Amino acid sequence: MTAPAVPQRLAAPEPGWTDTVDVVVIGSGIAGLTAALKARELGTVLVVTKDVVASGSTQWAQGGIAAALSPEDSPEEHLQDTLVAGAGLCDPDAVRALVTEGPDAVRDLIELGARFDTQANGEISLTREGGHHRNRIAHSGGDATGAEIERALVAAVKRLPDIRLIEHALVIDLLRADDGAIAGVTLHVMGEGQLDGIGAVRSRVVILASGGLGQLYAATTNPSVSTGDGMALALRAGAKVRDLEFVQFHPTVLWLGKSAKGQQPLVSEAVRGEGAFLVDHEGKRFMEGQHELADLAPRDIVAKAIMRQMLAGGKDHVYLDARHFGDEKWRVRFPTILASCRSHGIDPVRELIPVAPACHYSSGGVWTDLNGQTSVPGLYACGEVACTGVHGANRLASNSLLEGLVFAGRIATHLGKGLPELREPAEDTRIPGLVDADVVPELQRVMTVGAGVIRSASGLAEAGGALGKLIEQPAGEPGTPGWEATNLVTVASALIAAATVREESRGSHWREDHPDRDDQHWSGSLDLTLFADGERARPGTDFVPQSKENRQDG
Ligand code: SIN
Repeated sequence: MTAPAVPQRLAAPEPGWTDTVDVVVIGSGIAGLTAALKARELGTVLVVTKDVVASGSTQWAQGGIAAALSPEDSPEEHLQDTLVAGAGLCDPDAVRALVTEGPDAVRDLIELGARFDTQANGEISLTREGGHHRNRIAHSGGDATGAEIERALVAAVKRLPDIRLIEHALVIDLLRADDGAIAGVTLHVMGEGQLDGIGAVRSRVVILASGGLGQLYAATTNPSVSTGDGMALALRAGAKVRDLEFVQFHPTVLWLGKSAKGQQPLVSEAVRGEGAFLVDHEGKRFMEGQHELADLAPRDIVAKAIMRQMLAGGKDHVYLDARHFGDEKWRVRFPTILASCRSHGIDPVRELIPVAPACHYSSGGVWTDLNGQTSVPGLYACGEVACTGVHGANRLASNSLLEGLVFAGRIATHLGKGLPELREPAEDTRIPGLVDADVVPELQRVMTVGAGVIRSASGLAEAGGALGKLIEQPAGEPGTPGWEATNLVTVASALIAAATVREESRGSHWREDHPDRDDQHWSGSLDLTLFADGERARPGTDFVPQSKENRQDG
């Protein structure tokens, strides 16, 4: 196994204060705030968020939220499109829950105050994105859907003083009782009066809603807070993660030059949904003939087609042509993208938009059942941090906001049957460790080269070796940069392990040394956990491809 061992828990000073609540929610995007709003009826709720409340990925979502809201559409058709995009790895029961409960969940959001764009007759305007055969994407402010949803949820939470919200609070590790069940969290709070510094919050339940892992890569659409914290916390607490090798690269991210790093501006799929198309450097369309939906094929297919164009032509981007929209359509329908292009000197009304794939979304994450329960009693997960089985090997566009909404609601419904008892945290005998905060840029480079869009056994082995060396670098004092770096390294190691084991290409996992999808051996999901390995812990899996014998026969 090429994936290096990582710290068993984070090195941090002892907690200086304690508090007790019924439910701790980690994260303040659509999943976390929905969970908090619903769980408040069951007991005391504390939401902790690492930066300010609206700093996560929800705020940045452009295209919209998918749901069968039109009379011409049906949950069954939404289910079919989701299963096809997921390339054989979706859990059909999870997808059914998503598509059947989705329309009412969106109506509840509207009831709460979220405003979606409407047509002249007052009906919600619905558009299309990659992989959808119907117009079913509701949007707000043209292309600012996430910001409107976040605004409505934050306003609702702030109207309810019984939900406590602590900003600038990074969860260090999960507390567990002697029987392994959740007993609370340890966290670091910056500047909250009495709750300043390191503390312990005891709770009956912890809900992870802390978002994704985009900062593992040099270029991503994710904000700087997306450092895989929830996945790392869960792994260190013994939880199972699933499908971690399926990292989605969004096909059309504004290309800002070779050396662009960190969060990059998205050019929503909805732009193609409204008629834009991809062209190469000669202005020739290249998606026609590659898939029946051409430029609106599922995201993995478009991203691969772009990568092939780039590799064949020795280029680092292609172009999106939406000049035919004209000035007014650009201003009304895509004001955010128009402003972002113009701020980088590109006028999409008159010019082609340079685009290239960049890391966008983790389809895998902390495994949950249909009620959002992880494999650790008392630990729940929803939103991007979770793997509910909805996305399989490739998420269908605009299913992520819906998943956060629906599965946060399912967690609350499940907890409504009875909260677990408050447990005494056990003594933590695991060996603490910390990674040097300065390794992050090199980690991002290594992951982009070896575990990015195109992978191979040798590239992954090199990435694993390089990561192992970064882990050995002497670390500084405990603090947010070092804790985030350790979380990134932990998730990177697990991702490399998963991507190495899956010797096929499927969905967003592209192995150039195993270029075909292989249903005979790899039609199952891959689960990983951390196993103690000396003073550290190493990701491992029990997944066995159907059989060696079959593989030789096949
Ligand atoms: C987009 O607007 O293209 C992103 C939508 C998504 O990631 O689902």
